[in-house]
Amino acid sequence: MANSPTGDSVTERLLRVLETFTPTRTVQSAAEIGRRAGLPSSTVHRFIGELVETGLLERDEDRRIRVGMRLWELATRSSAALRLRQAAMPAMERVQAAVGEHTQLAILEQDEALFLERLSSRDATSNITRIAGRLPLHASSSGLVLLAYAPPDLQERVLAGPLHGLTRATITDPTALRRKLAEVRRLGHAVAPGSIEDVATGLAVPVRDAAGRCVAALSVVVARDAAVEAPLAALHRAARDIHSTLGA
Ligand code: PHB
Repeated sequence: MANSPTGDSVTERLLRVLETFTPTRTVQSAAEIGRRAGLPSSTVHRFIGELVETGLLERDEDRRIRVGMRLWELATRSSAALRLRQAAMPAMERVQAAVGEHTQLAILEQDEALFLERLSSRDATSNITRIAGRLPLHASSSGLVLLAYAPPDLQERVLAGPLHGLTRATITDPTALRRKLAEVRRLGHAVAPGSIEDVATGLAVPVRDAAGRCVAALSVVVARDAAVEAPLAALHRAARDIHSTLGA
């Protein structure tokens, strides 16, 4: 791929541009993108113009830029995430109907929990997860499940820190985290009271593929002082259903 005068390839520049978009920053001016992506202003308008022409980015009425539907279409069409999401969706709907709280599906991606799907409920407990958003492995219930069943080298990398505290309840001590991961494996689920936000408890179970590997975490977020037995039972049932669907 042709390199720019600064030596970075077109692919690298494209990635830097796309990574300036986040779950909370979905629209930007071309100048903002250029600044955040570290692209010289002489090239940013032409480069973004090309991406708009191909549909990977889109311009709104105010000439501000957002990620294009074409990019969503191409990325979603054949991804493993789509298959997992489709297998999980009916069971997620049952959990959400039974528990009446937000229900999420997350996978392990670059040492973080990446959320593929979230079913929202009206009047549900506060919840900071977003589709295509990420949470730290050590701090969220989904992350604890993904970490508990992750390869040992990944576990050691995360345990080596830094383990940032998001609340007073976040586990930031490596020994305590090791104990918690052992507990998750023993119980087959994670309970994370107040770990991401003081008012909420995250509950998560592993989702296993046909070979029995943990490929995702299914979670609900309930009020901090809510009973957890019934939501956990609903999550375990759902994980079994998704496992059978993935094996079929
Ligand atoms: C959790 O999974 O532990 C979690 C996620 C989002 C929240 C609260 C808890 O808002």
